[in-house]
Amino acid sequence: MNPIETEAFKKPLQHIGEWEEFVVQHYPEPNGPAATTESGKPAVGHAPDKKEIEFRNYEADARPTVREFYRLNHTFQSYEFGQAKRKEYLGLNRMTMSVWEAAEYLNQLIDDSDPDTDMSQLQHLLQTAEHLRRDGQPRWMILTGLVHDLGKILCLWGEPQWAVVGDTFPTGCAYSPKIVFPKFFEANPDSKDSRYNTPNGVYEPGCCLDKVSLSWGHDEYIYHVCRDYLPEEGLAMLRYHSFYPWHRESEYTHLLNDKDQALLPWVNRFNPYDLYTKSHSKPDEVALRPYYEDLIREFFPDKIRW
Ligand SMILES: [Fe+2]
Ligand SMILES: [Fe+2]
Repeated sequence: MNPIETEAFKKPLQHIGEWEEFVVQHYPEPNGPAATTESGKPAVGHAPDKKEIEFRNYEADARPTVREFYRLNHTFQSYEFGQAKRKEYLGLNRMTMSVWEAAEYLNQLIDDSDPDTDMSQLQHLLQTAEHLRRDGQPRWMILTGLVHDLGKILCLWGEPQWAVVGDTFPTGCAYSPKIVFPKFFEANPDSKDSRYNTPNGVYEPGCCLDKVSLSWGHDEYIYHVCRDYLPEEGLAMLRYHSFYPWHRESEYTHLLNDKDQALLPWVNRFNPYDLYTKSHSKPDEVALRPYYEDLIREFFPDKIRW
């Protein structure tokens, strides 16, 4: 491997859940209970006031592993890289398996063991889905919760962490300053390419997010795996659940059309179930499996292409 390849394949995060922990800290639950940690810092779930958000220095507070993860992500996620990965994966010619099999397959990622929580990938999916079920959300949305992170199987196929998880952002046009760690984009080849440095870049204004090439990762992949089976609202939840610069920062409005505007409330409705449902009570995989196998059968064929 040449030096660039070696760097790109570094695994800065101890486990991919470290990225999600950072996201929860960066976007605390809006109506969460006020709480402080022993050191007096706001705990996860504390609702900060606006001033607090403005002055919080998330870059300084981030773990070195998370900072390094974003450095690699912002350096290597170029427009061309995203195009190449779409070509490589979106033919869905790698495997054929059922949704539940994919969830069990993904569960091997527990190898990237997480010292802080012993939550497996399947448990996160079940917790998200169970929370949606408890709140009486539509059946397709419960199922969306169950499948939303299955795209992380890309990790098992040798993709580096920075090409699987991370907040997604449009490539092919100027970066929003609201994307976390914006200075790391300076090392991205696109930042020196004049085609990609205007607000619209390679896109037409109002072209629709469907036409915009977001940075590559588990969201885009699982959207394509599920696109024939779930309703449009569920597909938007899958495709944009990590697109924080849009759904939490309201950026890139110049690229949206009416359809995107209509889908945004659904993406926002889903997001808290992904971020704020992590708890230490583990869902009972064996007891829940029949319910979810039924739900999967309602929308998906026995085997689907991955
Ligand atoms: Fe995710
Ligand atoms: Fe998730």
